[in-house]
Amino acid sequence: MPFRLEDAQRARADFPALARKENGQPVAFLDGPGGTQVPQAVIDAMTDGYSRCNVNAGGAFASSQEVGLEVEAARSAMADFLGAESPACIAFGANMTSFNFALARAFSRRFKAGDEVLITRLDHEANRGPWQTLAAHGVTVKEAAITAAGTLDMDDFRAKLTPRTRLVAVTLASNALGTVPDIAEIRALSRAVGALLVCDAVHFAAHLPVDVQALDCDFLLCSAYKFHGPHVGVLYSKPGLLDQLDTDRLRAQYSAAPYRIETGTPNHPALMGVRAAVDYLAGWGHGDSRRARLTDTMQGLAVYEHGLAQRYLAGLAALPGITVWGPGDVEPRAPTVSITIDGVSALDAATRLAARGIQVWHGHFYAMAVMESLNLTERGGLLRTGVSLYNTPAEIDRLLEGLAEITRARP
Ligand SMILES: Cc1ncc(COP(=O)(O)O)c(C=O)c1O
Repeated sequence: MPFRLEDAQRARADFPALARKENGQPVAFLDGPGGTQVPQAVIDAMTDGYSRCNVNAGGAFASSQEVGLEVEAARSAMADFLGAESPACIAFGANMTSFNFALARAFSRRFKAGDEVLITRLDHEANRGPWQTLAAHGVTVKEAAITAAGTLDMDDFRAKLTPRTRLVAVTLASNALGTVPDIAEIRALSRAVGALLVCDAVHFAAHLPVDVQALDCDFLLCSAYKFHGPHVGVLYSKPGLLDQLDTDRLRAQYSAAPYRIETGTPNHPALMGVRAAVDYLAGWGHGDSRRARLTDTMQGLAVYEHGLAQRYLAGLAALPGITVWGPGDVEPRAPTVSITIDGVSALDAATRLAARGIQVWHGHFYAMAVMESLNLTERGGLLRTGVSLYNTPAEIDRLLEGLAEITRARP
């Protein structure tokens, strides 16, 4: 079902943070790639957790049993969100970065000197740094380059993939440029050399439907605060894979997946918020099951958000001195658009837009290899705009007006 402007306008009432004003102006919250706002339903679910069952799971008393059920309900919600085979494929942790370090540490006990891991320069540091630590264990860590157009350089990827490649770690969408690499080809090439595939879906999952079984990835990571939930990291692992990994864990911990990689006490109220965020998204779709409703929502949202990105790109084309980095008006892409302005740093532009109540991010967004590859580090990185389900064409127009004023006032 299409997601329409009326839906976005209706959704806005669900997000208390959107009522905020800055400099007397309503905030135009255009930093979804940095983190999204949460609907009241998520706030209520977390408040319910703190009020009703803020205890450990696994005890003899009622609130403990209730919280145990809530954790499993969150797992089953995320399994629906990602299209996983079962809730047991879903593990929860502090955030994506910590999870990826835990995964890499487990692989450091399995890989041998001479084994290779292939990462990419399109990726956020969270899907690079953890794998780079394997070099200390004798593993060769290679990096696939990006092109000047901000896409993954598939020739370089092919050249760096060898029969010794044990694992490929790649993003499903760049949080800096919106680029969506050809994951079907990456998977086919990786499988052909017997390498495992780890996907960073943190940016992608906020904008496009994820189907881990169709992707046929081995591990996939995402983060609920990018899709209207609280700060919780989510790790999907293909059935049977996590059980084979020597994860960091205490002897008191369950050794079966998914508990095998879940160290310490989970943030139970936050997990209740994750379930509420998934249910909130499902509420915008139609279908016989939550999975069907979620797919419907995400398909509709992808079209709506792409329309906002197109409006922004068209408006930018009319402004002097602006360069758009990364893919233009192509599909698939995430609706995240980054620019530079001749003579104006990204920080200056973001500061001037903030004075108009427009919230966008500036800099490298931890996609440091992207900035280095495109020679953008010295000039202070990019000015990034990202949209979510509550953003409207009127907000894009406000942003364009702000940018028009900035370009007029250029030195
Ligand atoms: C593409 C991408 N990957 C990974 C991360 C890291 O996620 P987390 O903050 O949950 O560690 C981010 C955060 O911005 C991101 O955008």
